[in-house]
Amino acid sequence: MSNIENYRKYFTKEYLMGPNSFRLLEELIRRRPDDVRFDRTLDLGCGYGLTSMFIANETGAGSVYAFDLWVDASENYSRIKENNLEDKIIPIHGDAMDMPFAREYFDSIVSVDSYHYFGCKEGVFAEKILPFVKKGGYVMIAMPGIKEGPEGELKELFNEWAEGDDSQLFKTPAWWEALMKKECGDLCEVSVMEADCFDIAWKEWFDSEHEFGIRDKEYLGKGLDRILDFVLVYVKRV
Ligand SMILES: C[S@@+](CC[C@H](N)C(=O)[O-])C[C@H]1O[C@@H](n2cnc3c(N)ncnc32)[C@H](O)[C@@H]1O
Repeated sequence: MSNIENYRKYFTKEYLMGPNSFRLLEELIRRRPDDVRFDRTLDLGCGYGLTSMFIANETGAGSVYAFDLWVDASENYSRIKENNLEDKIIPIHGDAMDMPFAREYFDSIVSVDSYHYFGCKEGVFAEKILPFVKKGGYVMIAMPGIKEGPEGELKELFNEWAEGDDSQLFKTPAWWEALMKKECGDLCEVSVMEADCFDIAWKEWFDSEHEFGIRDKEYLGKGLDRILDFVLVYVKRV
């Protein structure tokens, strides 16, 4: 069983990029289907590579490809070396829409608090992501979403918080399930659920006193906590 306390030194505003990703990732891994293999894993949208370190240490993965768009690969490589994980984690800078890997290369693709930025459009999963997973392999995603579409004052508050266009990135579990099933047809088995770690993941983000966390706390306190959600998606390529 993974010990999340070993990563507490990263629960700070210097490292967290939103609600605590370690909580989301730990739950995503804990609730995985029995036949998931991590041998060669892609951490898609790895940010500072913290999620890659957790995967490398806690799953027995042989290699973890730490792939991200906004964060420089050399910066992540420094952190990987500080943690003596350079034989296991490969840092790569790139765009999920144009990945440089061989088809059917990975046993698993894991994506935490990242997939919604690029994956809401039809065709992305089927054309840009799924081809890189082996048959029998999994894509596992944890990301923010909503329980239901906000209405009235809550809708105004939600749009103000997400600043217009970004509000389109937050979808319900049912929306993700329908998209994934449409993308995959008979090629995959799809399972989608709400995560349980909502309160602690947000609390640890607020406690970091990151300026965005302070803002988020204000908006969740006004009622957004009633509609926001975290969604877990498991897709097996059969
Ligand atoms: C909120 S951060 C989460 C990072 C990390 N997984 C974590 O949980 O700490 C979102 C990440 O998604 C990545 N991202 C967004 N669009 C991307 C794309 N098109 N290709 C690759 N990564 C992308 C960004 O670079 C960013 O680091």
